[in-house]
Amino acid sequence: MLATELPQQEFSLDSTRLFPTFRQDLRTSAPDIFVDETSTDWGNLSWQDLGKPYLVQNYSKHRRAWEESHSAEMPVEIQWQHFNRNFHRLFASDLDDAPREQGKLLLKNVGRMNLPQAQQALAELVRLQIWNHVHRREDAVWDPRGKRALFEGLEISKPNILFLGAAEGYEAMQLLAMYPGGHAVLVDYDDFCRTDRFGRFPEAYPFLGKNPATGGWQVYRKEDLQIDFEVCDIRDLKYGKEFDIVLSVGLIEHFSDEHKGVVFEFHRRFLKPGGYAIMTTPRRQLRSKAFYLLMGELMNYGYRELMDARQLGLYAYENGFEILRCGYIKAHNGLVTKVL
Ligand SMILES: C[S@@+](CC[C@H](N)C(=O)[O-])C[C@H]1O[C@@H](n2cnc3c(N)ncnc32)[C@H](O)[C@@H]1O
Repeated sequence: MLATELPQQEFSLDSTRLFPTFRQDLRTSAPDIFVDETSTDWGNLSWQDLGKPYLVQNYSKHRRAWEESHSAEMPVEIQWQHFNRNFHRLFASDLDDAPREQGKLLLKNVGRMNLPQAQQALAELVRLQIWNHVHRREDAVWDPRGKRALFEGLEISKPNILFLGAAEGYEAMQLLAMYPGGHAVLVDYDDFCRTDRFGRFPEAYPFLGKNPATGGWQVYRKEDLQIDFEVCDIRDLKYGKEFDIVLSVGLIEHFSDEHKGVVFEFHRRFLKPGGYAIMTTPRRQLRSKAFYLLMGELMNYGYRELMDARQLGLYAYENGFEILRCGYIKAHNGLVTKVL
């Protein structure tokens, strides 16, 4: 099917509207937040100036219970399976109905003096309210205007994109809308990401990008985009240097300093000469710390750092990347780089 050209009745450019599970944002104005740190003098920056990232350490009780019952540490791959199912359940929640239903459940359990169930219902209600605020009201997770500001101006046409640890693949879809006619390979070793996180990504979600014929705005949906999903460990990928963009979103912060070199190497290994490596990580800010504290039961199964844009930039610089753009958007730091 052809992409939906603007203007069209159902899409009104420069509008935003809440749907039960997401915000539709077709505003073409500048993002709410884009703080540009590109002018940083990387060669003169040191870890002494910056300090090291903040470590999130409130792990899910569910992980501890799993480890007790298995008498073993939870393998990293299993940690991601839990994270992805919990995260997807939030993405799929009807944020008009679910808090209402949870509120009723809470009252019912309080009325019956079922205190453990009431406590559980209250915790779930709080999590739904936080999710509604962060994901739907603020749109801080997908942040389309922020992501477009980060990804704009690349010198590429019909790019071949590799997304490492893709989950639902949102950012590859945004890039394909901005640079039409390209193709993306989403890689994740959790098959649930193929079947559910990407597989059930809202068909109606509009990605604002460019019409190649006119240069004007155009809306693309998932079905308009050329995407393959490869269920594979990043370490087992067999590609050559064939991608114009290698992308990761929320991957680097899951590797301690000892292993950072390895994860940067995967951003380099499959890039064409002159290609772009694009990386983002969650921001080190009070809101993010509070988010991972309050949502820890659902999210915190493994190693996670929060860093700022310059810390991410310094890691990339030290690992041999030239930093073309560095900045932060609502919830993430972002880098656009080339291999030096
Ligand atoms: C934190 S998520 C990325 C954030 C993502 N934008 C989201 O919304 O969840 C990281 C993803 O990388 C995947 N992943 C982690 N290590 C991997 C590996 N070695 N090979 C393939 N996928 C991996 C996980 O399964 C997970 O879906």
